[in-house]
Amino acid sequence: MEEFHKIRRLPPYVFEQVNRLKASARARGADIIDLGMGNPDLPTPQAIVDKLCDVVRDPRTHRYSSSRGIPGLRRAQAAYYARRFGVKLNPETQVVATLGSKEGFANMAQAITAPGDVVLCPNPTYPIHAFGFIMSGGVIRAIQAEPDNNFIPALERSVRYSTPKPLALILNYPANPTAFTATLDFYKDVVAFARKNDLIILSDLAYSEIYFDGNPPPSVLEVPGAMDVTVEFTSMSKTFSMPGWRMGFAVGNERLIAALSRVKSYLDYGAFTPIQVAASAALNSDGAEIEEVRAIYHRRRDVLVESFGRAGWHVPPPPATMFAWAPIPEAYRALGSLEFSKLLVEKADVAVAPGIGFGEFGDDHVRIALVENEHRIRQAARNIKRFLASAPETDNVIPLGARR
Ligand SMILES: Cc1ncc(COP(=O)(O)O)c(C=O)c1O
Repeated sequence: MEEFHKIRRLPPYVFEQVNRLKASARARGADIIDLGMGNPDLPTPQAIVDKLCDVVRDPRTHRYSSSRGIPGLRRAQAAYYARRFGVKLNPETQVVATLGSKEGFANMAQAITAPGDVVLCPNPTYPIHAFGFIMSGGVIRAIQAEPDNNFIPALERSVRYSTPKPLALILNYPANPTAFTATLDFYKDVVAFARKNDLIILSDLAYSEIYFDGNPPPSVLEVPGAMDVTVEFTSMSKTFSMPGWRMGFAVGNERLIAALSRVKSYLDYGAFTPIQVAASAALNSDGAEIEEVRAIYHRRRDVLVESFGRAGWHVPPPPATMFAWAPIPEAYRALGSLEFSKLLVEKADVAVAPGIGFGEFGDDHVRIALVENEHRIRQAARNIKRFLASAPETDNVIPLGARR
């Protein structure tokens, strides 16, 4: 029987292959250090959990909630944007709460895409950026992920040679998986380009608060005029270590926010009210928890870069996000990222995410997530040192058949 139209457009999850190996290694008793998924391991701050517990005792909160988000939550998100970015938002018309930023992004794609619409999407990138549009009948044209001097000229070529003209441009800085960050000047150029070419900007700012070295990432909405063409997505998942709570936001252009709200009003009744109330309290808090989370990832980053470096694997320090984007060591590069990742599970008891899972231009790298403690990261480095010391060419570590 032929596979369904939509399912044919969703290739099997590459990460599944590493996950399967990981599961069978664990079943054999191996102690796998899992730096694969970007699934925060830190507990949600106690005050947020306590708030949820208080509110859930009130039966009035057990009814269907509000699909766009309760007013207090939308006000709290608008206040966060005002405080953090100096961006003024109308909580009634320019803010919608989403069931995690991933849901918001995917339903925005659904709301605005007609079959065959072209969308400019970085490669490599977090998979929903492309597949949200592919599931909605759109067509992806890959653009470079790096926000360097080539970005705008490349964008110009993409627009010139796309038929039909692209509908939207996806930005994600700080980026998953590459940890690239953007400056406000970069955003100014992109907004000017988007306005001139009638492009919608969808900016994924999930890592707005996970930055190091005192360099907070800007919002594209800080650029005057960006509001005319932009929606930006943020997430409670990383900022407040709340990944399982499923709480995020879309903010920005009223027409786009209205389109997303309309789609959502047909699909969901919003997150459970106690979650929305607890999320409002988190956003309205003094930010001390955010500082702590940032400091933990910062220390883990430094330990990772230093210990992997001593093990013989040079990993550039990411300026933001909870990921290091590590070039595959030279001796193993020909393998490609999937085979190399499998090898790390089998020979070093370390799981990472193969770069190919984020797009074809990610295949020379693997993504290492900072989701284990410092001690475990050091242990991973020791395992990797042993693995790298085993001569790759002579002891058949690289199966010949697996070479690209
Ligand atoms: C760039 C990026 N956007 C969105 C998400 C999803 O976040 P949420 O939990 O808010 O859906 C992630 C999660 O890893 C991410 O890395």
